[in-house]
Amino acid sequence: MLGICFALYAYFTDTSIDDYKAIFIVLFSIIFIERAVYYLTWWKFIILPYSLNLHSNFKDDTSKNSLYVDKFVKFKKLKPKSHLEQVMAIGLKSFSLEYRNFVAINVDDYKENAERILHFLGLIDKRYEVKVYHKKNRNVVLVFYSLPYEYSVDLSYFKPNKLFLGIYEKGLYYRKLNTLDHLLCVGESGSGKSNFMHLLNINFLFNLHKIKKMYMIDLKGGVELKRYEKLDNVEFVSNIERLNVLLDDVLEDLKESQNELLLSNKRKSDDLTLIVFDEVGAVSTYPDKKIREAIFDKLALISMQGRASGILLFLFAQKIDNTILPSSIVNNLQTRVLLKTSNDNNINIIDLKDNIREKITWVEVQDFNKGRAIYKDGLTSDKSLIQFPIIGDKLLNYIISNNMIDVTHELLNQKPL
Ligand SMILES: Nc1ncnc2c1ncn2[C@@H]1O[C@H](COP(=O)(O)OP(=O)(O)O)[C@@H](O)[C@H]1O
Ligand SMILES: [Mg+2]
Repeated sequence: MLGICFALYAYFTDTSIDDYKAIFIVLFSIIFIERAVYYLTWWKFIILPYSLNLHSNFKDDTSKNSLYVDKFVKFKKLKPKSHLEQVMAIGLKSFSLEYRNFVAINVDDYKENAERILHFLGLIDKRYEVKVYHKKNRNVVLVFYSLPYEYSVDLSYFKPNKLFLGIYEKGLYYRKLNTLDHLLCVGESGSGKSNFMHLLNINFLFNLHKIKKMYMIDLKGGVELKRYEKLDNVEFVSNIERLNVLLDDVLEDLKESQNELLLSNKRKSDDLTLIVFDEVGAVSTYPDKKIREAIFDKLALISMQGRASGILLFLFAQKIDNTILPSSIVNNLQTRVLLKTSNDNNINIIDLKDNIREKITWVEVQDFNKGRAIYKDGLTSDKSLIQFPIIGDKLLNYIISNNMIDVTHELLNQKPL
């Protein structure tokens, strides 16, 4: 650019040799300074592929040796799309780096070395994660992000027809209500299961217009779910015999709804019946085998056939294996949430084939902080690292004590969220 300007300038003005020299020196200095600033600013990013041996390099034993160069292209600060989200995605930090190779880029090399890249850039201590994307034919984009450790939310995060689940790589994570499926959440005691359950419940209460009935089950005599009891279409269950009877009601509903769907030629029911079950492991410790099996059979049937009728299971457990929950149930719960755990069976529920720990986060699942989770969307199978918000008693009690439908109407009548 500068060269062209200079040529044009020289052409149109009658410049003497001495002037040329002066202009040359200025030009050269500008280019030199610009380059120097460029390298000083980005040197770490520029040398990254070479320091870590990620660039395609010589293959000694072949005659067609070639050295490809992975060139640093750009650094970009990333922000959620809307201004509101930028404010609401508290503590989310992210940026990206792009590299190009003129011949071919080895994206897998970057993926396999994700943790080394973070070490090299000094981002491990800052708890950054990196995700590697292929771009065009010869580019690779590394997205670095760091999720907040802990944050709270207010009513403005929740929206009708959507579930707000937390903060992930790109900002606020929402899932559409009409694509919801069964969910299984596992994590050791204290990992944040019940807190996540309340988060889901708040989302449901924001969508009461779509919900026929909610069952809140806790057989361990916990107090977490009892507070929802005062809501009209919520039934709190703490007794296993009562649960057994109620599940018959649900199955009857299921049959009815299946008939309706057949008659009306519809594939999916619009109304939801939600079964939220905290500490589902409690069933397997119940001494009466008959009741245990009856409940498992009914849950299996719901897990298999409930979705089209809008009857959905949300099961929470510390551990998952065949003795705790039959695989006929587990296999049908497609959305999976994994919180802190050191149990390998639990870790496998997110993905039986891949080692998810390597791919999604470098932090071992057993070292997850509270509310940190790998979330697998049952519909798309996409896996994301999410930080759930902490749900305080104040927010929860406010939502329960005000009729939530009123609050939702109030919010809907305000300007869009
Ligand atoms: N998302 C979160 N962020 C920060 N702290 C959390 C979060 N979720 C839970 N906690 C903390 O951890 C404690 C245990 O959470 P809880 O949901 O009861 O775990 P669990 O049901 O798995 O035993 C809570 O008292 C809360 O203070
Ligand atoms: Mg709990």
